[in-house]
Amino acid sequence: MKDLSVTLSGVKLDNPIIPASGTYGFGQEFTPYYDINVLGSLSFKGTTSESRFGNPTPRIAECPNGMLNSVGLQNPGVDHVIAHELPELRKIFRKPIMANISGFSIEEYVRCVELLTQEEQVELLEINISCPNVHGGGMAFGTNPEAAAQVTRAVKKVATKPVYIKLSPNVTDIVSIAKACEDAGADGLSLINTLLGMRIDLNRRKPVLANVMGGYSGPGIFPVALRMVYQVTGAVKIPVIGMGGISTARDVIEMMMAGAKAVEVGAANLVNPYACKEIIEQLPVEMEKLRIDKLSDIQRV
Ligand code: FUM
Repeated sequence: MKDLSVTLSGVKLDNPIIPASGTYGFGQEFTPYYDINVLGSLSFKGTTSESRFGNPTPRIAECPNGMLNSVGLQNPGVDHVIAHELPELRKIFRKPIMANISGFSIEEYVRCVELLTQEEQVELLEINISCPNVHGGGMAFGTNPEAAAQVTRAVKKVATKPVYIKLSPNVTDIVSIAKACEDAGADGLSLINTLLGMRIDLNRRKPVLANVMGGYSGPGIFPVALRMVYQVTGAVKIPVIGMGGISTARDVIEMMMAGAKAVEVGAANLVNPYACKEIIEQLPVEMEKLRIDKLSDIQRV
């Protein structure tokens, strides 16, 4: 019997598979396909203080080995999430929930954390300072070490659950930002968010996305994500959740060999709704081939 369990800042997960925020909604859309309690945790759609309609359409562009999205943090707002989404999610999901929180000001991050940290089933907070699809917030905090540290310090003051800061790959030196967050008190880090990209419709001679640019995700970014996770885990002591293009059990093990303690699966859920379930089922098979008994024994290479 293989042991898939991992522990993030004292929170034990049955396995390291967490659907990435924005690719799994609040879980409901996946229940016709399988019992989502097979997951380790679930990072719900990035939530802001007020509801957001998101960016104009089109906001998805297909690409080789992945896709661009420019959703623009569409979400019903933190009060609705607490009043409606979390009670509904509780009915179908018994595992620890990771609350993904976005903001346009430090005050907004703080308000969302103050509210969501009180939710019993929310055991991990993921602070998204890396959304590439909005102006005046999101990635602006994640591309500057001092701004990233300010957000981290502010949310840590009000959080009663472990705080993971979600980092952007759209920077020259992700390690300096990771270290700034660690020094400011982050309990862990999530990386990477999407890579800023663009496509042009040749016939219309216009950008495919109404917002012109969007975030690239999918298997094409896996080597970039792996490299960044490896660099960051070599420089910080806090746990790192690795993500970016993971679509197989072997990708999970590779990401853990780069130093990640758990992983998030994103774009793969949009291609194949069974992706997380299939990865979880395949993990023991790949562990057997690689003579790994406990996933948590995997050492950074
Ligand atoms: O546009 C979006 O909602 C994406 C968010 C993110 O990548 O963090």
